[in-house]
Amino acid sequence: MGNKVFNIAIVGATGAVGQKIMDILQEKDFPIGTLKLLSSERSAGKKIIWNDREITVEVAKSDSFSGIDIAFFSAGGEVSRKLAPEAVKQGAIVIDNTSAYRMNKNVPLIVPEVNSDHLNNHQGIIANPNCSTIQMAVALKPIKEAFGLNRIVVSTYQAVSGAGRQAEKELETQTKQYIQEEEMVAETLPVRSDEKHFPIAFNALPQIDVFEENGFTAEEMKMIQETKKIFNDQTMSIAATCVRLPIVTSHSESIYIETDQEKVSVAQIREVLEKAEGVVLQDDPSTQTYPTPLDATNKEPIFVGRVRKDLDNEQGFHMWVVGDNLMKGAALNTVQIAQSLIENKLV
Ligand SMILES: NC(=O)c1ccc[n+]([C@@H]2O[C@H](COP(=O)([O-])OP(=O)(O)OC[C@H]3O[C@@H](n4cnc5c(N)ncnc54)[C@H](OP(=O)(O)O)[C@@H]3O)[C@@H](O)[C@H]2O)c1
Repeated sequence: MGNKVFNIAIVGATGAVGQKIMDILQEKDFPIGTLKLLSSERSAGKKIIWNDREITVEVAKSDSFSGIDIAFFSAGGEVSRKLAPEAVKQGAIVIDNTSAYRMNKNVPLIVPEVNSDHLNNHQGIIANPNCSTIQMAVALKPIKEAFGLNRIVVSTYQAVSGAGRQAEKELETQTKQYIQEEEMVAETLPVRSDEKHFPIAFNALPQIDVFEENGFTAEEMKMIQETKKIFNDQTMSIAATCVRLPIVTSHSESIYIETDQEKVSVAQIREVLEKAEGVVLQDDPSTQTYPTPLDATNKEPIFVGRVRKDLDNEQGFHMWVVGDNLMKGAALNTVQIAQSLIENKLV
């Protein structure tokens, strides 16, 4: 990356994703000049130690971005809508973790292993896809490239950390309440702002984000629309069912695909996955080898297992894909986008 250093701001630095971004920047020895940590008034004034520096968290405001080269946003869509254009005006490149700009046609939606070439057209804001979309795109890219893909049916098994710190705490509290035979108090999931709340401990909630008029949830529609945008292919047919489970970190997905090419074997699919960037194949039923969320947590790659041919459709395949939703699903992908910008001299 050369000797140049970059001034960085993290909006939402005290949240689940923001904290992870800070960890990864440190681990990867990212070339940082100043690091500005921004939050709401709730956390302002808090002192955070990062890489031996003591940094005081400040309130994120319109004028927070002067001199900043790259601003990572993970403080919710509303904050991004309000402050990202201000940051761009002040000369920063924004990498946004929220859904605010993902489908905007002037905003590249990037998974570096899949479509870093889309970065060339950026106009200041770059979007990080939804966590469940990223891991599916990483796993399917090599298959699409080698054999073509025309149909995807995905069911997700998503962790509570995908809904932020409050949801994580609620799982912990409800688990204690259940074991002590107390009533479980539910205030956050499935959607904090929606009318009803259900316990997540010892449960499965088939609603992530709000319902849309077509009966799909917003999370399901994100997976569908974002995947088409990332692959730049509006002809793919995709259906998704997104479910929240009492897992702290790492999302799992059961994915069914149909290849364009005929006579593709499981061995061929495994071979392209084995060689793919960002993918680790863990697939051997004879030794009960397959990925699980506990194993995938805090790891960078997307893990794939249980690859098998459909029993009725010659071009149909099933697989199980697991990835840490806070790492590749959010913070790691965000930092990798920044690294791609630097490598391609776009910042
Ligand atoms: N968790 C995931 O897997 C994941 C994955 C991809 C994308 N995302 C997206 O990233 C965003 C953050 O998610 P999270 O899981 O990190 O949430 P979180 O743990 O609830 O953290 C939210 C962060 O935003 C800050 N914030 C809230 N309101 C603000 C305001 N008005 N002005 C400035 N800062 C404000 C909070 O600061 P305080 O400490 O002051 O409250 C905190 O730092 C969401 O939009 C989410 O959709 C999350």
